[in-house]
Amino acid sequence: MESLRFVLPQSEIPTHWYNVAADLPNPPSPPLGPDGKPATLEQMSAIFPMAILEQEMSAERWIPIPREVREIYRLWRPSPLVRAARLEAMLGTPAKIYYKHEGVSPAGSHKPNTAVPQAFYNRQAGIRRIATETGAGQWGCALALAGQMFGVEVRVYMVKVSYEQKPYRRSMMRTWGAEVFASPSALTQTGRDALARDADHPGSLGLAISEAVEEAASRGDTNYALGSVLNHVMLHQTIIGQEAKKQFEMAGDWPDVVFGPCGGGSSFAGIAFPFFADNAAGGRGGRPTRLVAVEPTSCPSLTQGQYAYDFGDSSGFTPMMKMFTLGHDFTPPSIHAGGLRYHGASPLVSQLRHEGLIEALAVPQLATFEAGVAFARAEGVVPAPESCHAIRAVIDEALRCKQTGEALTLLFNLTGHGHFDMAAYDRYFAGDLEDFEYPRESIRESLRHLPDFA
Ligand SMILES: Cc1ncc(COP(=O)(O)O)c(C=O)c1O
Repeated sequence: MESLRFVLPQSEIPTHWYNVAADLPNPPSPPLGPDGKPATLEQMSAIFPMAILEQEMSAERWIPIPREVREIYRLWRPSPLVRAARLEAMLGTPAKIYYKHEGVSPAGSHKPNTAVPQAFYNRQAGIRRIATETGAGQWGCALALAGQMFGVEVRVYMVKVSYEQKPYRRSMMRTWGAEVFASPSALTQTGRDALARDADHPGSLGLAISEAVEEAASRGDTNYALGSVLNHVMLHQTIIGQEAKKQFEMAGDWPDVVFGPCGGGSSFAGIAFPFFADNAAGGRGGRPTRLVAVEPTSCPSLTQGQYAYDFGDSSGFTPMMKMFTLGHDFTPPSIHAGGLRYHGASPLVSQLRHEGLIEALAVPQLATFEAGVAFARAEGVVPAPESCHAIRAVIDEALRCKQTGEALTLLFNLTGHGHFDMAAYDRYFAGDLEDFEYPRESIRESLRHLPDFA
């Protein structure tokens, strides 16, 4: 019987993270401070530990993973690579489909890959309290778990629409000892201002980031942690693609196309960047692997945004970063893939997209749920709504292969399971979910507020 699961021994947990900055054709654009000059380590050290900031700025190709972090990775890593043979049969495609199952972590997604080192480095720097934001709750759960493991108190600002849509992620964060607040909240000036403008504000990731940064910046004992976007988060997630490469060697196969859902960009980066390293060296056997980031049509930063300097949060507390952005005060429609409701995309992912080294496409909400249900019925795993975006793109590519007869090998990042997203599935089955129009007007309006460096 042919093997479907490719499982590495724990001795194969990567010992280093891969830093894509070492292989970029052009140096990354630096983050800028309020004066328009490159942000200094001192400015950023108010809310981040130095070890993280060094990683943020590093150009070293390989960065060692601390022993304490690898010891915790052992709880669920290496994650399995699985051949989705039943999905292939259901589609009748000659393409081979594989997925890297990041939903096997205790928190249910890829987010602990970076939550664990972030909690570790903060604890090492003597920090006992971290504030953060979360969209659908996956990142908040991951940091709650990691904080609990290193004895760090975690306070989570959860985007209000998701706070209401996904109550059990709140419960999970509380189980691991975190405090959770609906954002906008009355706890910060940012939150109070947003509530004064609109008492029913649904919240956004940009706004929740502002609340968490405001809290961290106003207290000496509190740091801030971000679950995506920044270079060190992309770095930590590269263990996904590094493992996948070893697993493809076990399988005697290699992907022609790699897909990842894309919000801030970390899960896409995690699976794609290690394959980019091969592309940068000429491609494996001279053949590059196509790398495709998949985003929602309702929040299309990489496909419809502007490549410009913008703030990472809605209030403009963070340094300005060069990235594809829809404008920092853009409030995306309330789709159920809450982790993809971010106005920008990681500067590293954005630069690769800008330089034509990766691809991006956008898919509408209903089509993603249709793909997620097909995947669950074929393979058994119920995917998170964010992961359904990559699944939609993979199914479309496999159906294209069916027409052309190409037997391509496709890989996607199954970034999380959807066990706490079942209310969204119920709404899909009841016909209550909608496809949001591409929010052209509100994007145009918020792009008018880009900082002057745009
Ligand atoms: C399951 C899942 N997949 C994907 C994402 C997208 O985030 P990122 O682009 O940083 O991977 C999220 C974000 O919360 C998520 O929870």
